[in-house]
Amino acid sequence: MSTALTALVRVLANLGYGSRRQVQALIGQGAVTHADGLPLDALTLADWQRLRVHDVPIDPLPGLALMQHKPTGYACSHDDVGPLVYALLPPRFRLRRPPLSSAGRLDRDTSGLLLLTDDGALLHRIISPRRHVPRCYRVQLAADLRGDEAQAFASGQLLLKGDDRPLLPARFEALGARAARLTLHEGRYHQVRRMFAALGNHVIGLHREAIGALTLGDLAPGAWRALDAGDLARVFAQSIPASPTDPAP
Ligand code: URA
Repeated sequence: MSTALTALVRVLANLGYGSRRQVQALIGQGAVTHADGLPLDALTLADWQRLRVHDVPIDPLPGLALMQHKPTGYACSHDDVGPLVYALLPPRFRLRRPPLSSAGRLDRDTSGLLLLTDDGALLHRIISPRRHVPRCYRVQLAADLRGDEAQAFASGQLLLKGDDRPLLPARFEALGARAARLTLHEGRYHQVRRMFAALGNHVIGLHREAIGALTLGDLAPGAWRALDAGDLARVFAQSIPASPTDPAP
């Protein structure tokens, strides 16, 4: 087998199309073709995007980043029991190597914008505490706002139960008697819920509206789409510039 064909078999197997043996069989049956009719044993990396399997364009190549409109009722951790956000993606995506992981998590009861990627460096850039990529949440509360939330959250002195350092200043905006928008620059465990609990309130609805300047747009609950370079630029648009030790954009 040519080097190009060996590489192609590996790529398709890592995208979840089957074991290497099964992929070889697919190629042998003529199920793998190139949209421009190029011979498979001469393809270079740049040509792989135009491959088709059973006449369907192949899945996005490694380096995939996508956004999902996470509905409530789904968990982000691979280890969790019950429905996972991965079940909302094409079944083959669960077989991909490297695997897709969420860049930060949303609780099972939280809906909204979730980013997933198989690119470890990108994942690190999104969740890195040094970049402070802002995350914006819409919050529904059980009790009326007290009036001092903006000041308490902006203070940089709020210490949550069990934490050893105070929270970074967060931006609070009241949207109604029991509704608010909160923008965080860090991502601690159940942070929004714990912040309101610290002020004696209780979060009954939580939705992430934006990461950086990237919003869900008209993406329906449960739906996903691949991110392009413009989307990724929006994620980092308002973040702190990279330090020399951070991976390049
Ligand atoms: N804060 C929370 O409490 N939950 C989330 O899912 C995200 C932020």
